[in-house]
Amino acid sequence: MSYKVAVVGATGNVGREMLSVLAERAFPASEVVALASTLKVKALDYYDFKGTDICLMSAGGAVSKAWSPRIAEAGAIVIDNSSTWRMDRKVPLIVPEVNPDALDAGIPKGIVANPNCSTAQLVVALKPLHEAATIKRLVVSTYQSVSGAGKEAMDELFRQTRAVFVADPIEAKLFTKQIAFNVIPHIDAFLDSGYTKEEWKMMVEVQKILDPDIQMTVTCVRVPVFIGHSEAVTAEFEKPITAGEARALLREAPGVLVVDKHEDGGYITPVEAAGEDAAYVSRIRKDPTVEHGLALWVVSDNLRKGAALNAVQIAECLVNRNLLRKAV
Ligand SMILES: NC(=O)c1ccc[n+]([C@@H]2O[C@H](COP(=O)([O-])OP(=O)(O)OC[C@H]3O[C@@H](n4cnc5c(N)ncnc54)[C@H](OP(=O)(O)O)[C@@H]3O)[C@@H](O)[C@H]2O)c1
Repeated sequence: MSYKVAVVGATGNVGREMLSVLAERAFPASEVVALASTLKVKALDYYDFKGTDICLMSAGGAVSKAWSPRIAEAGAIVIDNSSTWRMDRKVPLIVPEVNPDALDAGIPKGIVANPNCSTAQLVVALKPLHEAATIKRLVVSTYQSVSGAGKEAMDELFRQTRAVFVADPIEAKLFTKQIAFNVIPHIDAFLDSGYTKEEWKMMVEVQKILDPDIQMTVTCVRVPVFIGHSEAVTAEFEKPITAGEARALLREAPGVLVVDKHEDGGYITPVEAAGEDAAYVSRIRKDPTVEHGLALWVVSDNLRKGAALNAVQIAECLVNRNLLRKAV
């Protein structure tokens, strides 16, 4: 059987990558319709979703809030990339390597959520370690690329970098401070707790996907990298687990590639992860400050595993598990 797939936000960073990933993985699509706000592609406002099986949605939270229920009502399953539906109890939040079975509890709203980009790569790397030794507490610091904030954010880094070299004035429009040759410890809105919404999202999404009992503290930082998010992770476990055991488990884990030679260059950086599918794990070592602890470094392409690839993998799960409405 083949399916009619709509991609909403098709001109954006994630949407363009979704179109590539659908083609690369030979997703069984009879038709792929590209939708955005402009007439270069089909205009969302005038599109009739009747007959669409799957809608890959990456046009931001406001568009998703208004459109996802309507599209689901027309009969499609919406796989949404925004944060709008992720913590809704009636919406499964899925990373196919980690919790695909959560789909079997049903998709009552016709919407499945994709996690935040930094969450997806983290849970792929942590799942095998959690299964083996039960994570009690996590401390995560992120180093997030500008593409995570959309195509205009990439342009801002480019413009500012150029301006530094030609001694033009630096204009900061999207980011609150200069991003070129700088790092900014602030992503998304500030909450009353002092954490940012990006940090809160990682904490609650890890709990929803992996285990509600995991305690977490997170610092999310924007860095002047175009593509690829990095994360320094320290995990405290209930049971003993050595760095060697973790390395062996991660080598077998789906979606993970271990590059961990303890020597110059024996680790992965975002430039090498860009365009790739894996969550790369490097720098695996013992955290000697707790009884059972490990430290590691996780890097992945935020537009792929963090968004487009994960969404297409969810679509594949829906097909394989006969969860599309057409197949019911
Ligand atoms: N970038 C990441 O790493 C990442 C990871 C996970 C989740 N996400 C989420 O994915 C979504 C998209 O992110 P992005 O990075 O791709 O953003 P982006 O590069 O800014 O692209 C936004 C897309 O949304 C479309 N759009 C905006 N308003 C629209 C409207 N009223 N009707 C129809 N289409 C509209 C734009 O179309 P036009 O060009 O026609 O305006 C464009 O295609 C966001 O919710 C983001 O939080 C992003």
